[in-house]
Amino acid sequence: MADKRRVLVVDDDPLVRETVEDLLLDHGLEATVVEDGESALAVSAEQEFDAVLSDIRMPGRDGTEILPELRELRPATPVVLMTGFASIDSAVESMRAGAFDYLTKPFKADVMLAALERAFEFRELERENTRLRRAVERTSSFGDLIGQSGAMQEIYALIRKISGSSSNVLITGESGTGKEVVARTIHFTGSRAEAPFVPINCTAMPEGLLESELFGHVRGAFTGAHTSKRGLFEEAHGGTIFLDEIGDMPAPLQGKILRVLQDREIRPVGGNKTVKVDARVVAATNKDLRTEIAEGRFRKDLYYRLNVIPVAIPPLRERPEDIPLLAEAFLRKHGGERHPTLSADAIAKLTRYGWEGNARELENAIERALVLAGGAEIEPADLALETGEDGGDFEEALLGEASRRRMTVRELTDRYIDRVLEETGGSKSEAARILGLNRRTLYRRDERGGSAEDVAED
Ligand SMILES: Nc1ncnc2c1ncn2[C@@H]1O[C@H](COP(=O)(O)OP(=O)(O)OP(=O)(O)O)[C@@H](O)[C@H]1O
Ligand SMILES: [Mg+2]
Repeated sequence: MADKRRVLVVDDDPLVRETVEDLLLDHGLEATVVEDGESALAVSAEQEFDAVLSDIRMPGRDGTEILPELRELRPATPVVLMTGFASIDSAVESMRAGAFDYLTKPFKADVMLAALERAFEFRELERENTRLRRAVERTSSFGDLIGQSGAMQEIYALIRKISGSSSNVLITGESGTGKEVVARTIHFTGSRAEAPFVPINCTAMPEGLLESELFGHVRGAFTGAHTSKRGLFEEAHGGTIFLDEIGDMPAPLQGKILRVLQDREIRPVGGNKTVKVDARVVAATNKDLRTEIAEGRFRKDLYYRLNVIPVAIPPLRERPEDIPLLAEAFLRKHGGERHPTLSADAIAKLTRYGWEGNARELENAIERALVLAGGAEIEPADLALETGEDGGDFEEALLGEASRRRMTVRELTDRYIDRVLEETGGSKSEAARILGLNRRTLYRRDERGGSAEDVAED
């Protein structure tokens, strides 16, 4: 049988010490209890615990004061703080100083035990960490992720490391860097892979709808709620819920999400019963949440709850090694098995470019190049990148191809119309104005399945 887990309990209140000690013993854990910070440091120097459960307010050196020393003394030992209502702020601050979690007094036994379980799990992971980091060789892909840069290697190692855990994850990165791919990979390579992965975009919906989507609603909760409906947290039971664009979550809902993360239960809209949920929460944002917090738009306590495992994806321009690999993957995705290849010059051009829109922009550029290159090898001229200098590439490439392949005027016109429609975001009247055509001509073109037919004659 495995050794019993050992927990150090630090509290000046004898009643708390006794209750917590009894609880731990009842659950097969070993407890050492001390009554102040100084003694906590002293016993920690002598032996290593699997977790420390410490009060914040104590005479002498309090919980927040001993935290840094404890962390230095025993970096692999997670510290869970216990706090009264009055010191919640310092508990939140302590999370930044390295506390693993905090419990708000009074807490229920199972909440405390769950926090300890997560702490034990975390400690195991910390120990495995160094071993794993050595074991992961340089690979060019992991799950759905592609990339061989150092930054991606670190992300792969981190995802492996957390595969068995259920800790909350916060993914940050510019738009198009692959946050959603990271979230999926975390789920589908982890121990929850058999259960559902449930994504939700927090920007896409008004607050009320978002709430009932997340938590469900009971019958009659609002006009139109003819039946009750399970929320996404329940759908994700045993699996992962992916809160995309969490930075855009309306303030009242932020508070509700925080409660769910703390209590691991939800309350459907209009209902008065709570439901236990077990969903790993992975959130993503391209906003700088620190700024959002400073400007009062995002709750600091929610941030710390979510940010247990931070995954920061650097912009593509900071990891140019990944560009050729991604380009190749996108060629295969959009060009099929027998796709054209990129010439050496084309690869060089892609690698030099700034990719403000990151991998998403690269994917679009490849899709476009496949059309322009029309089956041949892709040359720099086929890559219409959106820099001032490259602005003429589309026209250049199209005319080049037209004369090379002896295109008909109709073919050429079609390509040009498609391009203009793309630029106008599909607005036919705007496109017609630019093209100097009658709007009806463009509609007729649609009916004929996209061929310009008599456009030239119109
Ligand atoms: N490392 C990667 N490996 C494979 N595909 C990637 C990678 N990074 C991004 N992609 C692809 O690029 C596109 C954009 O990725 P994704 O949607 O995950 O970005 P995002 O960070 O969520 O962007 P946004 O902030 O705009 O939502 C997708 O088609 C995705 O498949
Ligand atoms: Mg996204």
